[in-house]
Amino acid sequence: MTAAPPPRCDRIAELTADQFQARLPEALQIYVTAMGYPPATAQQRAPMWSAHMQRAGWRCIGAFSEQDQLIGIGYGYLGAPGQWWHEQVRRGLLSSGAEIGDWLDDYFELTELHVHPAGQGAGIGERILRQLLTGAPGNKVLLSTPEGPTRAWRLYRRVGFTDVLRNYRFTGDPRPFAVLGRSLPLEER
Ligand SMILES: CC(C)(COP(=O)(O)OP(=O)(O)OC[C@H]1O[C@@H](n2cnc3c(N)ncnc32)[C@H](O)[C@@H]1OP(=O)(O)O)[C@@H](O)C(=O)NCCC(=O)NCCS
Repeated sequence: MTAAPPPRCDRIAELTADQFQARLPEALQIYVTAMGYPPATAQQRAPMWSAHMQRAGWRCIGAFSEQDQLIGIGYGYLGAPGQWWHEQVRRGLLSSGAEIGDWLDDYFELTELHVHPAGQGAGIGERILRQLLTGAPGNKVLLSTPEGPTRAWRLYRRVGFTDVLRNYRFTGDPRPFAVLGRSLPLEER
């Protein structure tokens, strides 16, 4: 039996909150598959992803197959004091002795970026990322990713992300993470 060919990306498009909500089960399926998480993680994450849609500056980009299946997803919003991730990064910067500088002012938090494994390695993640950041609010973008090397790392370096914090442990996750950032807007290509 031959494996099914990877889905071809037909279009990359912005999703409204209503459109994303309607696609939430599909998006969460991509997330758990891409990250290798147990399927039950999808239901646990659903209320959090729905709450994120209400945040200021929320912006979401999806990649779709010719059959209108979701192949990849990326979203983020304006980070702000009081949000869990913001406070975690602030704590990490303070405890590392690094300069907080203005990293935590006026930034777009790239919260999720995932491509279904069958569609990975064809440039879809980079297309989603670039479209998400083109028009994103904030004068910089920050993200966290498990320490590499991974394909995500190659992508973020290619798009110009530099180190903000390395080998940081977020509360409740034993893995070391990096926090990466870059200025916005992206350069014209
Ligand atoms: C990280 C992730 C989103 C990247 O998306 P992707 O579509 O797989 O990757 P990219 O868009 O970067 O493209 C990947 C490869 O395609 C190649 N490529 C780029 N443009 C291409 C094109 N037009 N045609 C064919 N290949 C292309 C790139 O050279 C790149 O090669 P490399 O990664 O082997 O160096 C995806 O791999 C993923 O979901 N990973 C698991 C979840 C994850 O780690 N998410 C991030 C958490 S922070």
